[in-house]
Amino acid sequence: MVSFDNVYQCFDLDSKIVLGKDRTSYEIQGKWNEIHFKNDQDITLELACGRGEYTNYLAEMYPERNFLGIDIKGARIWKGAKIATAKGLSNAAYLRTKIERIEHFFGEDEVSEIWITFADPFLKKGKSNRRLTAKSFLERYRKILKPGGIVHLKTDNDVLFEFSLEQIDEYPHAKLIYSNWDIYSNPLEFKELEGKTYYEVMHLAKGITIKYLQFTLD
Ligand SMILES: C[S@@+](CC[C@H](N)C(=O)[O-])C[C@H]1O[C@@H](n2cnc3c(N)ncnc32)[C@H](O)[C@@H]1O
Repeated sequence: MVSFDNVYQCFDLDSKIVLGKDRTSYEIQGKWNEIHFKNDQDITLELACGRGEYTNYLAEMYPERNFLGIDIKGARIWKGAKIATAKGLSNAAYLRTKIERIEHFFGEDEVSEIWITFADPFLKKGKSNRRLTAKSFLERYRKILKPGGIVHLKTDNDVLFEFSLEQIDEYPHAKLIYSNWDIYSNPLEFKELEGKTYYEVMHLAKGITIKYLQFTLD
């Protein structure tokens, strides 16, 4: 991982410092474009990015925007970073950290959009606060998202989808823009939805329907 110039990692849970190529340390909050991308393009995050299929897919689709995949699992990020490097996607990068700490790595209004792709549903009793659309996470996203910035959720899981709709309804700053319990039952409403992650391909093979919603946080 430390040989990649598109991967940043944080291992110290109390620190805002990330380690980039050759373990060079950066305090990167509010400075992703200055330190890494070297341009002033809008930044989109993919949370729970796994192997980064969506980060790389969107980066290829939108060269005029920057994309950052975030996950805690190094082996998965390694794959996404390797493919981004091989494809020459200079607008795609990866951050290895816990999403609970996201506001330590991004400044106010630094992020234009967020995608949450096939996040773990945390179905066990008492674990719903770990879901990436729980109100505590919406509060974190609101701190770093530009006004009017869209949050996208794509999932296979009915419980997570229903829960997300409830959280959006209950959180006063959230406004639901679009939701669909079965995106492939009709022609896709948004071309970005054509991208498929590793988990999405597995769920589709089992005949599970794919759900999608988007909302803003003002
Ligand atoms: C089911 S996988 C989905 C991966 C990928 N988006 C896909 O669709 O193939 C969920 C991913 O979320 C990551 N994850 C879950 N909770 C996390 C957290 N709090 N912080 C960082 N990563 C997290 C896991 O490491 C895992 O890679």
